[in-house]
Formats: sequence, structure tokens, C-alpha cells
Amino acid sequence: MNILNLITAIVVLSVIIILIVFAFFNLAVSLAGTPYVPSKRKMIFRALKDVNPEPNSVFMDLGCGDGYIVRHVAKRFKVNSIGIDINPLLIGFAKVLSFLTGTSRRTRFICNDIFRSNFSHADYVFLYLMPSLLEKLGPRLAHECKPGTIIISNTFPIRRLRPYLTKTIPYKKLDVFVYRIP
Ligand SMILES: C[S@@+](CC[C@H](N)C(=O)[O-])C[C@H]1O[C@@H](n2cnc3c(N)ncnc32)[C@H](O)[C@@H]1O
Repeated sequence: MNILNLITAIVVLSVIIILIVFAFFNLAVSLAGTPYVPSKRKMIFRALKDVNPEPNSVFMDLGCGDGYIVRHVAKRFKVNSIGIDINPLLIGFAKVLSFLTGTSRRTRFICNDIFRSNFSHADYVFLYLMPSLLEKLGPRLAHECKPGTIIISNTFPIRRLRPYLTKTIPYKKLDVFVYRIP
């Protein structure tokens, strides 16, 4: 086997291992609640334009996936943007993309369970999670977020935050729900 074949074999093997680890984590997270499914970009761009996060505020995406939204808000709105995800591969990928897109100064990615995370310092919290997780997270958002925090939930409403709903932003047949903690 020459050196080129060896390198090709190592690269192919690494990709296969990464895909298996990704599939394992996605399956585990799917069984526990929410798999990785990225938000529709146009839908989120419209909602974020409407919300218009203030420069230098703190934006958090709880369950950030590959961190696209985190990078987008950091670049477009000049906020300090934090992404949390339980899947270490997605967090690793998000960090690499952040470096490559020159957004690392304003972005931070943390591999953690959102139920063990502190989001009390956030000014904006973005969520695209299944209703079962939102049901569990709703009371914590209501109690732990500081007054004035804006919560943006893609597609699924948060029952506990219903009294604080300020806006519903429609996109095709879906909605983005915006809440403000009093
Ligand atoms: C539907 S995807 C949304 C990704 C991104 N926020 C977006 O809108 O494009 C949900 C993400 O939440 C993550 N997730 C699910 N349960 C989680 C938990 N308990 N803690 C942290 N992340 C979680 C999954 O790994 C997945 O990447």
C-alpha cells in the first residue's frame, strides 16, 4: 500500500467514524426529545429582522445545532451570541464554521444539556425544540430569565409563556412565537 492509499483509507475511515458518532448522538437526542433539524433560514431571517436584537446584547440558541443562527445574529446584529447543544460533533462543527466565517469574536459554543445550562444572563433566547422539551423548559424560562428577556420559539408555542406572547410571525404555514418576560 503506498502512502496515498494509506492517507485515503485514513480519511475515509475518519469520515465513517464521524458519521457513526453523529448518527449515534442524533438517535440518542431524538429518543430523548429533539433531533437535529435546522430551522428554515428565510423564516428565521424574517423573524429576527422583526425582533431586531440590540447590538452588544446577549443572544442564546438553546439547541443550536451547527450554530448557523448563532453566527448569523452575531454578524448581522452585532450581538454576543452563544450556542448550546448536547451533540459534541455539532458543537465542534459550529466552532470550525465560526472560525472559518470570521465570527468567533462574537460567538461562543458550549457542549451541554440545556437543562443544566444557565440562561439567566440572556437578552434573547432562541428555541427550535419539540413541544415535549418546551413543556419542561417553559417554567425555567419563566422563572430564570430576567425581566425583558425576549424568547423566540420556532414553530412550537410554549404553553407556560402564553400570557407573555407579544407577537406571532407567520411564515407560509408555520409561525414563530415571540414572548417577553415581564
Ligand atoms: C431542531 S434542532 C435546531 C437547531 C438550530 N437551533 C436551528 O434552529 O437551526 C434541535 C437541536 O437541539 C439539540 N438538543 C436536543 N435536546 C437537547 C438538550 N437536552 N440539550 C442541548 N441540546 C439539545 C439537538 O442536538 C439539535 O441540534
